[in-house]
Amino acid sequence: MSVTECQAPRVYIENIGEYLDQEVCILGWLYNKRSSGKLHFLQVRDGTETIQCVMFKGDFSEEAFKQADLTSQESTLKIIGKVKKDDRSPIGYEIGVTGFEVLSEAQEYPITPKEHGTAFLMDHRHLWLRSARQHAIIRIRAEIIKAVRDYFDSNGFTLVDAPIFTPSACEGTTNLFETDYFEEKAYLTQSGQLYMEAAAAAFGKVYCFGPTFRAEKSKTRRHLTEFWMVEPEVAFNDLNDNMDLAEDFVVYIVQRVLQNRRRELTLLERDIAKLENIQKPFPRITYDEALAILHEKGTEEQKVPWGEDFGGDEETVISQEFDRPLFIHRYPAQCKAFYMKSDPENPKLSLNVDMIAPEGYGEVIGGGQREEDLNVLLERIKAHNLPIEAFDWYLDIRKYGSFPHSGFGLGIERTVSWLCGLHHVRETIPFPRLMGRLKP
Ligand code: 4AD
Ligand code: MG
Repeated sequence: MSVTECQAPRVYIENIGEYLDQEVCILGWLYNKRSSGKLHFLQVRDGTETIQCVMFKGDFSEEAFKQADLTSQESTLKIIGKVKKDDRSPIGYEIGVTGFEVLSEAQEYPITPKEHGTAFLMDHRHLWLRSARQHAIIRIRAEIIKAVRDYFDSNGFTLVDAPIFTPSACEGTTNLFETDYFEEKAYLTQSGQLYMEAAAAAFGKVYCFGPTFRAEKSKTRRHLTEFWMVEPEVAFNDLNDNMDLAEDFVVYIVQRVLQNRRRELTLLERDIAKLENIQKPFPRITYDEALAILHEKGTEEQKVPWGEDFGGDEETVISQEFDRPLFIHRYPAQCKAFYMKSDPENPKLSLNVDMIAPEGYGEVIGGGQREEDLNVLLERIKAHNLPIEAFDWYLDIRKYGSFPHSGFGLGIERTVSWLCGLHHVRETIPFPRLMGRLKP
């Protein structure tokens, strides 16, 4: 008999409400338990939810009742029982157990309900994912990703996948991962943007979504070496259109998480009112205005001179002045990538934009309007000391019907960290890759 065959219907805990007063079969793992002489309270999780399963001594042989008490944490179980209402339970139901079978007895589980240090938990990430908080975070992440896809798929964008092996740098050469590609050098992609620019000429509105790689050598709470980014690119959009799109998109994501993952947000003790406040329009300020805030409110160290990019701490100070995400646009061209279009009103500025999340969660979006003039772009590639031969295909986009265009990249992990209220991005991805961490 296969393990899923059972006298009662096999159900998932998240659907348990459909089976009130009926006998059901659950397959899962023992998360926690407590006993009072006559009763065992087993917390059983099956991947969808956790439910309390109650065993009465009188319903079982002495041996079976004792065995249940000796079952170790994370043992695999088959539970048969009747679904009952339970107003104290977060899911509203409990199970009155009639049948109990241990399918696999777990060895002593390293993650116990007591406190553990982060390094220990990170080393046991493959097991840590089973705990309630991590479960909630990853479910919110999955909801965010689904919302990202639904937004673009239902707004006329075509999904165009970008490659992972690339011949050239998109975001500067300091944090490239180099690999050997049949005796040629290749780099793991930092961004699919350049490919999306080519795709925008073919499809008008496009997006790519996938893993991106940066050899970040500094350890910060916002940087991973492997992270997921979604990158829309739209032909004929200017900088303002780009901000309109980013704003609409982010409001949609937040709404979806509020709609479908409220229980998870509550479990994480997220201040939901702060997320409900995320409505259009988002404030839009220039780099110069942001710099003025820093010089007024920041520490001596944060009063960066004109021309320098902002770091995480500076972004936090600026974001504290606002109750929703904030756009900062028109940074000094000298601190931005080669492909940024200069502001025709002041060529020292680039037509770029960052979206800074509120509450100190930092930059979640980076993007802007791209340089569409072939000769200006050629000059830029030279000025940035980039190898022109790696960009010949990219220059073709300007040779054959050039067009104004804009786009941006939203980092999934930064977004998860903001919406879940997590201080560090390491918990926002199932198996994080950081400098010094390649396992599990
Ligand atoms: O600002 P970035 O570097 O922009 C680009 O890569 C553009 N080419 C995107 C585009 O216009 N198509 O990165 C975009 C976002 C950041 O705002 C941040 O959310 C995230 O990607 N990000 C990281 N997330 C985690 N770890 C890192 N090391 C990250 N670097 C960037
Ligand atoms: Mg950026």
